[in-house]
Amino acid sequence: MAEKIDVAVIGAGRMGQIHGLNAARHPDLRLRYVIDSDAAAAGSLAATFGAEVGTLEQALAEPAIKGFVIASSTDMHLEHSLAVIGAGKAALCEKPIDLDLAKAKAAAPKFEGAQYILGFNRRFDPHVSALREKIQSGAIGQLETLTLINHDPAAPPPAFIPRSGGLFKDFTIHDLDLAYALLGEPPVEIFATASCLVDPAIAAAGDVDTARVILRAASGKLCVISNTRRSGYGYDQRVEAYGSRGMAATANERLDAVEVWNEAGAHASPIRPNFLNRYAASYAGEMSHFADVLKGRAKPSVGYAEGLMALAWAEACAESARTNSVIKL
Ligand SMILES: NC(=O)c1ccc[n+]([C@@H]2O[C@H](COP(=O)([O-])OP(=O)(O)OC[C@H]3O[C@@H](n4cnc5c(N)ncnc54)[C@H](O)[C@@H]3O)[C@@H](O)[C@H]2O)c1
Repeated sequence: MAEKIDVAVIGAGRMGQIHGLNAARHPDLRLRYVIDSDAAAAGSLAATFGAEVGTLEQALAEPAIKGFVIASSTDMHLEHSLAVIGAGKAALCEKPIDLDLAKAKAAAPKFEGAQYILGFNRRFDPHVSALREKIQSGAIGQLETLTLINHDPAAPPPAFIPRSGGLFKDFTIHDLDLAYALLGEPPVEIFATASCLVDPAIAAAGDVDTARVILRAASGKLCVISNTRRSGYGYDQRVEAYGSRGMAATANERLDAVEVWNEAGAHASPIRPNFLNRYAASYAGEMSHFADVLKGRAKPSVGYAEGLMALAWAEACAESARTNSVIKL
């Protein structure tokens, strides 16, 4: 049997639990340590998969541990990433790379040549990948405009907001990266407008929960992003790509494919309820890519450079919304 590679997970919260599960069940990986400043969270995740609770120092010092999944709070990503790659280990880090663009830019040289994957999970989603292939194969002619709909069913727990970086760095950042991946070029202009319509606690924490963003690329291609922290009907994730010869779109997955048609009308099952459910395959795909990188079968397909660009665009969104102006990049 092929040798398993030992990995550790830093952060045992919502994402740490899904990454822990995917690491534990991947045939090439063994989940050795769970690290979390919350001992109960670490203990519970470690116990689920027969792993040990450890400290970062302990895990970094173990030669057998080659990879770290960083799913700690966003404000710890850069510190944890630097510790991991500084020890010559590989990292799969949740987005965003950091909250502070200047700090992240200054650290960039340290990531050159590092085995560092950034968790822009939609790049690993089978539907998004298929859509990207259709666009690239010319199925809709020349791509001209994109519409990205990213609506959360409900706001995250209030305690998450202050350490999240706010809607643009925490949430819109997925769309900014996806727009780049699908357009094939970066934006040169960004306009964003945002409100707090869902939960006054979000405004009290200095954040917004509803936004529209428009991106313009140098070629003139345009992208509109729609975000809210409350859909009420599930986790609405749609991409529409319009080209010179047609359009391509990914619809929402439903909990099942049953439709009931009767005298009252036609009724379909609800769409998937949240990110953990909708993007389960993409998180597993991300972990497989991490295993491939650790096994020397692949180079990171998305990493620090993409993270840095998306963070800059997220800052531009925040500045645009604050100043009610178009930001030229
Ligand atoms: N890719 C996605 O779809 C997606 C979805 C949700 C969250 N995220 C990202 O994942 C990260 C974690 O989000 P979450 O929702 O799991 O948050 P969470 O609050 O549920 O979990 C974070 C965990 O990190 C731990 N932690 C905080 N500081 C630490 C430290 N110094 N050392 C060790 N552990 C520490 C906390 O105790 C907590 O258990 C965030 O950066 C978020 O942006 C990504």
